[in-house]
Amino acid sequence: MERLTSPARLMIVSDLDHTMVDHHDPENLSLLRFNSLWEHAYRHDSLLVFSTGRSPTLYKELRKEKPLLTPDVTIMSVGTEITYGNSMAPDHGWVDALNHKWDLGVVKEETGKFSELTLQAETEQRPHKVSFYVDKSKAQEVAKELSQRLEKRGLDVKIIYSGGMDLDILPQGAGKGQALAYLLKKLKSEGKLPVNTLACGDSGNDAELFSIPDVYGIMVSNAQEELLKWHAENAKNNPKVIHAKERCAGGIIQAIGEFKLGPNLSPRDVSDFLECKVENANPGHEVVKFFLFYERWRRGEVENSEAYAASLKASCQPGGVFVHPSGAEKSLVDTIDELRKHHGDKQGKKFRVWVDQVLATETAPGTWMVKLDKWEQSGDERIGCTTTVKFTAKEGEGLVWEHVEQTWSEESKLKDDSSWII
Ligand code: GLC
Ligand code: MG
Repeated sequence: MERLTSPARLMIVSDLDHTMVDHHDPENLSLLRFNSLWEHAYRHDSLLVFSTGRSPTLYKELRKEKPLLTPDVTIMSVGTEITYGNSMAPDHGWVDALNHKWDLGVVKEETGKFSELTLQAETEQRPHKVSFYVDKSKAQEVAKELSQRLEKRGLDVKIIYSGGMDLDILPQGAGKGQALAYLLKKLKSEGKLPVNTLACGDSGNDAELFSIPDVYGIMVSNAQEELLKWHAENAKNNPKVIHAKERCAGGIIQAIGEFKLGPNLSPRDVSDFLECKVENANPGHEVVKFFLFYERWRRGEVENSEAYAASLKASCQPGGVFVHPSGAEKSLVDTIDELRKHHGDKQGKKFRVWVDQVLATETAPGTWMVKLDKWEQSGDERIGCTTTVKFTAKEGEGLVWEHVEQTWSEESKLKDDSSWII
């Protein structure tokens, strides 16, 4: 969070499963639309927070399966674990606050007396979260009885039912809503309270997010029955919370537009990049647009025309160099010629490209360094490169690509020098 020196323009706090991630869309299109919108228009001055019920183990698994961006803050295990940045440094202060009237041993002992409860996987049992599966028809009754028993044992817990099957027991002060309130308080104390905050969710454990004051909320179109019921009973008259018409990340984009929180046109929804050349003087935009163009080029979705190649070459410094992750150096112009040979080679195949953590720094007047992670998914394989691009602003020509350098990203398992173009 330190990378922002002033309050974030927008902080998005989003659930993952069935909110950011649409498990019914194998192409991940709405997620990819959100990703390019975020990197294009928000990454430089806004904060992305993921708030999931998943434990760190299952969260990391999801990151491998889906093209998720890297968030600034990761809230896991239903608001019981908060971590910051790429290194996921834990917030110890938050953990300490959760020990109040909480005793894991007692929770395990009391829940063991309910035959209706089936314990979830070991990875999902956390220091401040005990999780079960329970049938929809029994959930309410079990939750009521259990909360009475735990109260008698001197504990103060919160029982949350999500997705029509999951029952979580947490300390009363935990949960996604409390974790968000804690984060807002922390940001405020640093003088960095976001201008706007948008909470996004689909199920029972997200309900709390929508009762934090001054926060906009969006329930995706595919929200679960238990969340819609909660909304009807508790937040129906709150104009800051909407039930989107679109599924998952599409609903988040819709809400950005409806609440007027900033740009809501994803670069993925723009078909002709050549047309939007002039207004884009931001180097981060150039990179997002280029790699999207690259995806479409290889998928054969843009025409193999001289105009495109000429326009790409025109935006490169004639002596500009590209350092391939293998270490080989070639000119940027030759790299474009090579790209031309690959037009449509991924047609009809599962092939997607996305960029993550695009950050531009003006190193000298008119000179920019843009750092980003570029990912390529081809079939079931994913490869990534840490990429640095140096741009210079040229009178009348806009931004010119001067130097590109790539190294294999640490998380990239496959490091295939021969199939990587740029
Ligand atoms: C995630 C967690 C699970 C939890 C559920 C609802 O699926 O893995 O443990 O019960 O979210 O919060
Ligand atoms: Mg969910």
